[in-house]
Amino acid sequence: MYPKTRMRRLRRTEGLRRLSAETALGRDDFILPVFVLPGSDREDEVQAMPGVKRQSADVLVRRAGTLRCGAVLVFGVPDADQKDDVGSVALREDGLVPSAISLLKAERPDLTVISDVCLCAYTTHGHCGPLAGSGLPDNDSALEALSKMALAHAVAGADIVAPSAMMDGQVLAIREALDSAGHSHTAILSYAAKFASVFYGPFRDAAHSTPGAGGRQSYQLPPSNRREAVRDALLDEQEGADWLMVKPALPYLDVLAELRRETRLPIAAYQVSGEYVMLKRGAQDGLWDERDAVLESVLAIKRAGADAIITYYAEEIVRWLDN
Ligand code: PBG
Repeated sequence: MYPKTRMRRLRRTEGLRRLSAETALGRDDFILPVFVLPGSDREDEVQAMPGVKRQSADVLVRRAGTLRCGAVLVFGVPDADQKDDVGSVALREDGLVPSAISLLKAERPDLTVISDVCLCAYTTHGHCGPLAGSGLPDNDSALEALSKMALAHAVAGADIVAPSAMMDGQVLAIREALDSAGHSHTAILSYAAKFASVFYGPFRDAAHSTPGAGGRQSYQLPPSNRREAVRDALLDEQEGADWLMVKPALPYLDVLAELRRETRLPIAAYQVSGEYVMLKRGAQDGLWDERDAVLESVLAIKRAGADAIITYYAEEIVRWLDN
C-alpha cells in the first residue's frame, strides 16, 4: 500500500517501461488483406477506404516482392458480369483467386498465403451461400460450394484457407474435402466468432459484396452474445479448425479474451474495414497521430489474446515497428 508501494516507480523512464512491457508487437504478427481483380494491369482505389487498393494479380505480385508482414489474406473481387445465383466462378480451379495464389507463391514462396472462402462477392444477391426458398442461404448446399472453393485454393498453393461464410459445419466439410483430395497439410483458419457488424460497411464497397434482402443476421453472430460466440468458436475447433478468429476486433475484445481462456488453438483477430476507417478519419481530422493510434489499437488486440492480427494497416505497422 501507499506510501511504501508506488506504482510510478516502474513507469519513471522509457527503459523501465520497456523492461516491464507485458505485450510486444512483431512483424510476423500481422496479416494484410488484399483485394484481387480479374484481368491484368488493373488497379483502383476503394472509395470507402482511403489508401486501400484493388489490384489484378500481376500488380499484386509486384507489390508482394516488398511485403514484410507475416502473411496476406486474399479476397477475390469478380466483375459484376461474372456473378450468378450460386457463385459458380468461385469454385473454378482456374479462377481469379487460385491464379493469384499460384502467382504469389511463385514470386514469394516464403510468404504465407491465406485465402478467404466465402461466396458473397460472387453471388448476384450478395449472400454467403446459395439461397433456399426462404430467401436465406441454404446451409447444406453452401457447404458443398465452400468445400469446392477451398479445395481450388489449396490446389493453387494456399497455406491456409479461411472460411468466413458462418455456415454450420463448414469447417468439417472443408477439412474432409481437403483430406480426401490429398491436401491434409493445408490449414484452416475459421472465422469462428464473426459478428453481424455494421463495421463491415466499407469492406462491402471494396469487395462489392453488399447483401441484398435480409442482411446477414441469420448466419452471423448477434453482437449481444458472448457465450454464443464462444460456443460457436469451440464447435469449429471440434470440427478441425487449426486457427480461430474473432471479428471485428476492438469492439469484441471481451470475446477474444474469453476465447483465449477456453482454447489452446492460436487465435487471429480481424481489425475490420470500419475500424480502419475510424482510425484513418481520426488521423485525417487531426484528432490523433495515425501511428500512435494504430499501434495502440493493435497492442490492445494482442494484449486481449490475439496471436495474429489481420489489418489493412499491416504494411505501415511493419514499417513503423522498424523505426
Ligand atoms: C465475407 C467477409 C466480410 C468481411 C470479411 N469477409 C464481409 C461480410 O461478412 O459482410 C469483412 C471484412 C472487413 O470489414 O474488413 N463474408
